[in-house]
Amino acid sequence: MVTTVTVNPAIDRTLIVNEFKIGAVNRVSRTIIDAGGKGVNVAKNLKNLGCDVKCLGFMGPNGKYIENVLSELGIKFNFVQIKNDIRTNIKIVDEIRHTYTDINEAGPDVSQDEIEKLILSINEHADLSDVIVLSGSLLPNMDKDFYRQIIEKVSEKGVKVILDADGDALKLGVEGKPYMIKPNIHELRRMTGKNLESVDEIIEEGMRIIESGISIVAVSMGGSGSIVVTEDKAYKVKPIKVQVKGTVGAGDAYVAGFAYGLSENLSIEEAIKMASSASTSVIMREGTKACSLKDVEELKEKVEIEVIER
Ligand SMILES: Nc1ncnc2c1ncn2[C@@H]1O[C@H](COP(=O)(O)OP(=O)(O)OP(=O)(O)O)[C@@H](O)[C@H]1O
Ligand SMILES: [Mg+2]
Repeated sequence: MVTTVTVNPAIDRTLIVNEFKIGAVNRVSRTIIDAGGKGVNVAKNLKNLGCDVKCLGFMGPNGKYIENVLSELGIKFNFVQIKNDIRTNIKIVDEIRHTYTDINEAGPDVSQDEIEKLILSINEHADLSDVIVLSGSLLPNMDKDFYRQIIEKVSEKGVKVILDADGDALKLGVEGKPYMIKPNIHELRRMTGKNLESVDEIIEEGMRIIESGISIVAVSMGGSGSIVVTEDKAYKVKPIKVQVKGTVGAGDAYVAGFAYGLSENLSIEEAIKMASSASTSVIMREGTKACSLKDVEELKEKVEIEVIER
């Protein structure tokens, strides 16, 4: 089983407004509500890939919508119920001017007791899981090294942890030595403080991280594909050429594909193919949709990987 952890879930509210004006009253022509938060998105992708998956994290009194969506999709969950509401992220889409405005809340405060309940729950699920995915931002009043604490606790149980975060959550999280990290190139640059312009520099940096005790470093680079570094090889993964309809959620699908591969004990090349084709399936579709298994099966044959022996 794969367990995903969403510390900071979100209700994504997309408002379609024609000719959006700042400082004026705007009329909404259509509203689309979506269950968001990175771990929730990873779980939706895993479900579509046919993987046994469960969602953990925090959920507030206003989070019933997300739980209903997960139930309808047949995705298991066991959130720690917190006192405060979870965040709502507003996306304003102007279909006439083609502008996209995101207004994202930071997320609620949580109590020490609520945090401890989540740590306990993740720890219990670690015994039942092949892979744990820790993804997305932490809540403002949580310790910045929360992911490190979790990784250190669960890794001794033999479960493989994938960390997909940014800023301090990533920087401190890697100190816990997760099994795999999946920064995009910008997150890797922020984490290392280096420019990392060329493929060689990225591979070299990946090797340095591997030497610190992490087994897989997958660096996604949007339309330029990805680079994966392991203990003995590096893989340059070409992007699959498709018509791009929207890149939101590509990274979450990439993580899901890899998590699937690790949980099924696929070879690293097969896992890369799953990750690359799941993310490509998402960008072929409009909005924040999860990947489709049919797409993934077709796209897998098109993934081109250059293997570099280290
Ligand atoms: N424009 C594109 N063309 C082809 N493939 C793409 C494109 N954008 C993303 N991908 C695919 O999706 C993968 C992950 O994308 P990206 O690097 O944008 O992730 P991310 O920045 O973590 O995204 P997210 O916003 O979901 O966190 C890429 O490695 C690639 O396989
Ligand atoms: Mg990402």
